[in-house]
Amino acid sequence: MMDRTTYDGVRKAALADPEEFWAARARVGLHWFSPFRTTLEWQAPFARWFADGTTNACYNCLDRHLTGWRKNKAALIWEGEEYQQRILTYQELHRRVVQFAAALRGLGYGQGDRAILYLPMIPEAAVAMLACARLGIIHSVVFAGFSAEALRTRIDDLGATLAITADAGRRRGRIVPLKKNLDDALSECPGVRHSIVYRHTGAEIEMRERRDLEWADLVAGAEAECPAVPVPSEHPLFVLYTSGTTGKPKGVVHSTAGYLVQVQATMEWVFDLRDDDTYWCTADIGWVTGHSYIIYGPLAMGATTVMYEGAPDWPRPDRFWEIIAKYRVNVFYTSPTAIRSFIRQGDEHPNRHDLSSLRLLGSVGEPINPSAWNWYNTVIGKSRCPIVDTWWQTETGSILLSPSPGAVETKPGSATLPLPGIDAAIFNLKGEPVPDGQQGYLVLRKPWPSMLRGLYGDPERYRENYWSRYPGVYFTGDAAHRDSDGYFWVLGRVDDVINVSGHRMSTMEVESVMVRHPAVAEAAAVGRPDELKGQALVVFATLKGGATPTPALGEELRQWVGQEIGGFARPEEVRMVDGLPKTRSGKIMRRLLRELVTNRHVAGDTTTLEDFSVLAKLSASDEDE
Ligand code: WT7
Repeated sequence: MMDRTTYDGVRKAALADPEEFWAARARVGLHWFSPFRTTLEWQAPFARWFADGTTNACYNCLDRHLTGWRKNKAALIWEGEEYQQRILTYQELHRRVVQFAAALRGLGYGQGDRAILYLPMIPEAAVAMLACARLGIIHSVVFAGFSAEALRTRIDDLGATLAITADAGRRRGRIVPLKKNLDDALSECPGVRHSIVYRHTGAEIEMRERRDLEWADLVAGAEAECPAVPVPSEHPLFVLYTSGTTGKPKGVVHSTAGYLVQVQATMEWVFDLRDDDTYWCTADIGWVTGHSYIIYGPLAMGATTVMYEGAPDWPRPDRFWEIIAKYRVNVFYTSPTAIRSFIRQGDEHPNRHDLSSLRLLGSVGEPINPSAWNWYNTVIGKSRCPIVDTWWQTETGSILLSPSPGAVETKPGSATLPLPGIDAAIFNLKGEPVPDGQQGYLVLRKPWPSMLRGLYGDPERYRENYWSRYPGVYFTGDAAHRDSDGYFWVLGRVDDVINVSGHRMSTMEVESVMVRHPAVAEAAAVGRPDELKGQALVVFATLKGGATPTPALGEELRQWVGQEIGGFARPEEVRMVDGLPKTRSGKIMRRLLRELVTNRHVAGDTTTLEDFSVLAKLSASDEDE
């Protein structure tokens, strides 16, 4: 922990010479098989960090901790939905990873191959990720809540040849048929040679001969040795699909060395992690938070990381508090949506448990409203735990804006200051920094080691998406302002991306699914402010001739989106309407629809509207309710 003066000194030095700053971090932070000499090659927008060095993410997360006392430290504490418990020491986790990696190698997989991981929140998810990293296999974890169709498009885009799954997952006492979904996806993915299945729930599944392999058989027959393969720093560690502004998800590519250096550094700056800490991040490994702050960050630090399989309120609303008390969790990292749902359930649930082990609380995924912040502070933190509100994105790889506890005073609702080495600014449309207090676009003016290296197979989209608005400057897609103390207040997305419960969703993706339904002619998806979820998804649809707008059809359309993308994307509401407001050039005016669902009427500028009567009808139908 640093005091403010020391911390400001570090930030100032880092901004004066970011390359030297990151090079110094990289030298001490990672084990290098061969050291790097060049720090950064920057041909905007393409960055290469530490490019002539070789390292291995798995080695850094496991092997290097085995030479000293940490070998018997708990690496992973797992709590199952049915109260099962597994604790894997560094040595034990290493042994399992080596076995599984040896099995993958035995099947012929190696550096540059792509594997899809479709797994529940179980230790084997960590084992599979790390085993891939050990061999230089690029992994892409697909959140277990995604549908077969979403899985198929990702397998296809990535050209994956290997899939790793479980028979099923558990969610609130129900079974999530992962293997079955994978089977459905693979029926259209001939490129996948093997799917490896871990038996987790005992659910009945079909195994296809030659293609489908039992995890247990593979590791039983695997060789005992499997050294980590030194890979170049820039070798992709993983690809993670996230929603963009079009219907097609983007495959965000992350590197090995730069990613790990910064994820590890931020663990230290933001969570001030100590060797005797028990650290728990409640995210799912299917999202970037799970990658960076359940697996790679904590393990690179040699920390103890908790992984919980189930839902926060299952079987009872105090499940999280029970886990904190059980494992004496010191650092707890969760989302504003989770916090808001806890507030709703009532203080008696946390109050029943001993939360005195907590010393630091974190928040991520969406802006945290001051009342949720205050509740988190008093009811969970008992007003003695700093709260770190961490702003970052799938693309940034690691936390970029956050208080550093001890050094930076917090303000409820602000992610405070950029971390060392991060040159964040707020620009107006012309690309000039706005005066403090004025709203603008959050941008990053210098490359950083854990930045995305591109979008898989689509350099043009990468350039267009992030670097075209301001040449050489990274466009985050977020609006923000900065106060007179230099604190950043991130307000939310400015593009057609909405944030539901901290999950990023593309309105275009939802719309393209909607119009694939035989009854739908046109669709427009918008976000409506929601007290619990931050935003809720509302979809307007016009129907094809012959289709009648009944409540049953509305429900069918909701389920349709859930089935095609995943349950978490099921719209809150589908409104079947006669027409959608459009500009003269035929573009749907989502802004008006947004206003309509937010304020129940439209006040904004409507001069470009093609047909005022459409809007009048939309508002009228709203009034009827
Ligand atoms: C978007 C990124 C970062 C991992 C989880 C989400 C929003 C994230 C904050 C925060 C305000 C936040 C932004 C960002 N966001 N953290 N602390 N305060 N907004 O990752 O799915 O890539 O979404 O989440 O809008 O752009 P993601």
